Amino acid sequence: MAVDEALEGYALHPGTPTATDYLRLREDSGLTPRTQEQAVLALPGSWAACHVVDVASGMTVGMGRLIGDGGWYFHVVDIAVLPAHQRRGIGNWVLSWLLDQVREAAPPDAFVSLMADPPGRRLYARHGFTERRDLSIGMAMWLHHDDSATSP
Ligand SMILES: CC(C)(COP(=O)(O)OP(=O)(O)OC[C@H]1O[C@@H](n2cnc3c(N)ncnc32)[C@H](O)[C@@H]1OP(=O)(O)O)[C@@H](O)C(=O)NCCC(=O)NCCS
Repeated sequence: MAVDEALEGYALHPGTPTATDYLRLREDSGLTPRTQEQAVLALPGSWAACHVVDVASGMTVGMGRLIGDGGWYFHVVDIAVLPAHQRRGIGNWVLSWLLDQVREAAPPDAFVSLMADPPGRRLYARHGFTERRDLSIGMAMWLHHDDSATSP
């Protein structure tokens, strides 16, 4: 069920998109492609998720997820909008909805983090995310089955 009619022609649905739509959204919005195996394991592990449907076509055109422990650690991932539907406020709608879930369900003083690719940085900054490299830096690696690791 749509929770908001704020963007004409689009409906925001709580919950993840299908694995097929998830993989398509990531790839078509320019994020690194993931595998079906990763998708079917990842999506049910979301603490909160929503996706946006173009009502006219029925196509899922945007999404976002939060992974977290429900107590205080929350991480925003997979904020993606198809290029043809960008710059209409969908990214803002998705992020606002996700952050509202934390405000409503988590105890006070939640720590919400994300890895900000260039296209999302202005959007994240508008919602209050700041760089904190003076305090601590994000560190990451790809961990491979042969025990090797490479930099993202
Ligand atoms: C980042 C991303 C999700 C933003 O989605 P979006 O739906 O375009 O986001 P919004 O429409 O809410 O905001 C984007 C811009 O459009 C503007 N905008 C929103 N509605 C608008 C409208 N009706 N008319 C004109 N501009 C509008 C916003 O002010 C914002 O401007 P800014 O970038 O100058 O600050 C999208 O660009 C994307 O999927 N990029 C590729 C994947 C990616 O990198 N994801 C982030 C991973 S960290």
